[in-house]
Amino acid sequence: MSADTNPKNEHTRMYRFEILRYDASRDDEPRFQAYQVAAQANMSVLEALLKIQDEQDPSLAFRYACRGAVCGSCAMAINGKLNLACRVQLKNLHTNRVILEPLPRFEILKDLVVDMDLFWEKYQRI
Ligand code: FES
Repeated sequence: MSADTNPKNEHTRMYRFEILRYDASRDDEPRFQAYQVAAQANMSVLEALLKIQDEQDPSLAFRYACRGAVCGSCAMAINGKLNLACRVQLKNLHTNRVILEPLPRFEILKDLVVDMDLFWEKYQRI
């Protein structure tokens, strides 16, 4: 089957991901890094992140576990709104510019991974 007749390619388009990068062990300040990604519109933000990590940048760090909007580990700011990366489909962002930042008010460990220790301590007390 050629690429033109493959129905999976029907809704593929280019997205520009701008992802906050930071490594607490070596960086002074966070910075945004841009990635151009060919992705299907029904792909989730998490699937796009996995594609970026697999094809462009294995150093990109983010968390996920269930991939089914249950565990909450993929929570992040997606175009300024807190959401689960596995739940948000690219087509529902209504833009091809996707800005990803870690959860606010948490210490960044690396890229989109934040330190959740204090959160879990408080959660256990409750
Ligand atoms: S991976 Fe579990 S909620 Fe997204």
